[in-house]
Amino acid sequence: SKNYKIAVLPGDGTGPEVIAEAIKVLDAAGKKFGFSTEKKYFDWGGEHYLKTGETLPADAKEQLSKHDAVLLGAIGHPDVKPGVLEKGILLKLRFDLDQYINLRPVKLYPGVETPLANKKPEDIDYVVVRENSGGVYTGMGGNVQIDTPDEVACQNWVYTRRQVDRCLKFAFELAEKRHTKENPWRGLSEEDKKAGYTSQLTLVGKTNVLTYVCGLWERAFNAMAKNYPTVKTAYCHVDAATMWMVKNPEWFDVVVTENLMGDIITDLAAMTSGGMGVASGGNLNPTGLSMFEPIGGSAPKYTGRNVINPLAAIGAAAMMLDFLGEKEAAAAIDRSVAYVTGNKLKSMAAGRMGYSTTEVGDLVVENL
Ligand code: IPM
Ligand code: MN
Repeated sequence: SKNYKIAVLPGDGTGPEVIAEAIKVLDAAGKKFGFSTEKKYFDWGGEHYLKTGETLPADAKEQLSKHDAVLLGAIGHPDVKPGVLEKGILLKLRFDLDQYINLRPVKLYPGVETPLANKKPEDIDYVVVRENSGGVYTGMGGNVQIDTPDEVACQNWVYTRRQVDRCLKFAFELAEKRHTKENPWRGLSEEDKKAGYTSQLTLVGKTNVLTYVCGLWERAFNAMAKNYPTVKTAYCHVDAATMWMVKNPEWFDVVVTENLMGDIITDLAAMTSGGMGVASGGNLNPTGLSMFEPIGGSAPKYTGRNVINPLAAIGAAAMMLDFLGEKEAAAAIDRSVAYVTGNKLKSMAAGRMGYSTTEVGDLVVENL
C-alpha cells in the first residue's frame, strides 16, 4: 500500500490543537482506505522565533522537499510584530516552494449557518483559484523621505505573462473537471447548456482602472478560453464580485483572480460559508511540493482550551489527500464532515459547537 511522507507544521496558538484532529482523521482514513502516512513535525512558528530569532532555517526548503506534502496549522503570535512571521514563514514557504495556486473551496455544509438570506448548501459551492506567487505580494517597492510630511510609499503590482498563464491554465482545467454527476452545471443558463457548455470560469479583476495588469489577465484569459470549449467564461470587476458573492453565490462555479484580490474575496467567501472554523485551502505547486492549511489564523485567545473548531484543518487534510490521489478517502472525509455539521454541531464558532475540539475530531472519525 502507499505511504506518504507528510511534513507537519502545527505552528502557533490553536494550530497544534486543530492539526492533532486533522492527523487523527488522516490516520483513520489511512486505515480504512489502505494507505499510511509518515509524519515529520517541524516547530517553526512564533515560539521558535522568540526563542531563537529565526523564522525559518536556511535549509527549510531542502528539509521540506523530502516530503510529499505539507500540512500547516497556523502562523501568528501576539508577541511578534505583525509581518515578521507572515512574511518570514508563510509567504516565504509559498514563494520558495513556488506554490503558485492558492485553491480555496467555498462550500456551505449542511446545518452551517450563513449570514446570506435564504441560501442553502446547493447555492454556495464554488472554488476560488487565487494566484499565489505574484502581484503586490512579491514585496517590491519602497519608502523615501520616511516619517516626513513628504514621505512617498510605493508597492509594485507586478505580473508576468508566464505567471498569469500558468494560473489560468490550472483554473481552466479545474473548471473542466468540476462538472460531474454530483455537481452538474453551475451558473449556466439553458442557452449556455444548449451551446455545449458544462462549467463556468469567472475572471475577477479591475480592468476599468488597473488597465496594465488586469489587461494582461484579460487578454491571456480570452486567448486561453479557445482551448476549453466546454468552459463558459465570464468576467467580473472585483468590487462587483463582492456584491454578487453575497447576493447570488449560485452564479459562481470556478473563480480565478490575482493574489491580493483573491486574498480579500476569499475572506468574504469564507464568511458566507460558515467562517474560519470551516474554511480550508491548498497552496499548490502542481509539479512540486504543496502545502495545505486552514485559512484562519492562530486564534491566541482560544489556545489550549479545547474549544476551537478543527473542521478547517480536517478539510485541509482532505484536500491534501485529494491532491495526493487518495480521492476516495478525501471524499469520505468530506461526507463525514457534512454529516457532522448537519447532524451534530450547534455552531461553527469556537466555544459554541456543543462539542470540544477533540470531540469534533472523534465525530468525523466515527462517521468516516
Ligand atoms: C491568507 C492570509 C495571508 C495572506 C497572510 C497571513 C500573509 O491572509 O492566507 O489569506 O495574505 O495570504
Ligand atoms: Mn487572507
